[in-house]
Amino acid sequence: MVPMAEFKRIVILTGAGISAESGIDTFRSAGGLWEQHKVEDVATPEGFARDPDLVLGFYDMRRAALAKVEPNPAHVALARLEAEFSGQLLLVTQNVDDLHERGGSKQVLHMHGELKSALCTSCEMRSEWNATMSDRPSCPICKASALRPDVVWFGEMPYQMERIYVALAECDLFVSIGTSGAVYPAAGFVQEARSAGAATLELNLEPSEGSHFFSESRHGKASKLVPEWVAQLLAE
Ligand code: OAD
Repeated sequence: MVPMAEFKRIVILTGAGISAESGIDTFRSAGGLWEQHKVEDVATPEGFARDPDLVLGFYDMRRAALAKVEPNPAHVALARLEAEFSGQLLLVTQNVDDLHERGGSKQVLHMHGELKSALCTSCEMRSEWNATMSDRPSCPICKASALRPDVVWFGEMPYQMERIYVALAECDLFVSIGTSGAVYPAAGFVQEARSAGAATLELNLEPSEGSHFFSESRHGKASKLVPEWVAQLLAE
């Protein structure tokens, strides 16, 4: 691989695997979230229309669980990279948790939204949200009782895709951390970056579905692989 010091524009994509060692369930592992809950019931607009109590309760539970977890060395290492890397860095996460921010990252693009944000279906404004939603609180802005979790459901468009594709077209290194490569459009980012001529690196517990698209893959726990890679990048 090209020496790490050569890279000037990096795009990083993270998934549930980076937060696994903090104690947040991934989606597709044995016993993961999608074994415990049906995707179509809790993560689609149709599921929300059918049974809003179930959906609001599911996200209330996940939001409350954030109070019991802490960022791990992988989150902290990416914050160190942001602080010390002299080139351009875009950190894109599919995660709706706030562990990157709590690990110290200042700029995080949450392409699948955030548990700690509420979206009003009446005025379409967003509000920071730390409380429950299943008790149907009113929107702090327009006062309508019309809040939903500010997360992207299946069938909806992930956030800020234009900005992400521009960064992928301009990057010289794309790094994917802790994601199974099962969900598009994020699963296609590696091919976008490759076709723009970027080097591509996967850091994951096991080979992901798209592992063969990467120019280099390192397999193991994020809490070990990510600090090692960041130290390598900053030392060269
Ligand atoms: P997945 O659950 O599909 O994949 C998690 C990946 O992390 C797997 O490849 C694991 O092998 C890996 N992994 C687990 N523990 C790890 C560790 N300690 N260190 C490194 N890797 C580890 O989660 P995502 O790929 O994030 O979308 O899922 C993508 C999207 O699917 C989510 O954002 C969510 C879900 O449905 C929506 O809800 C819209």
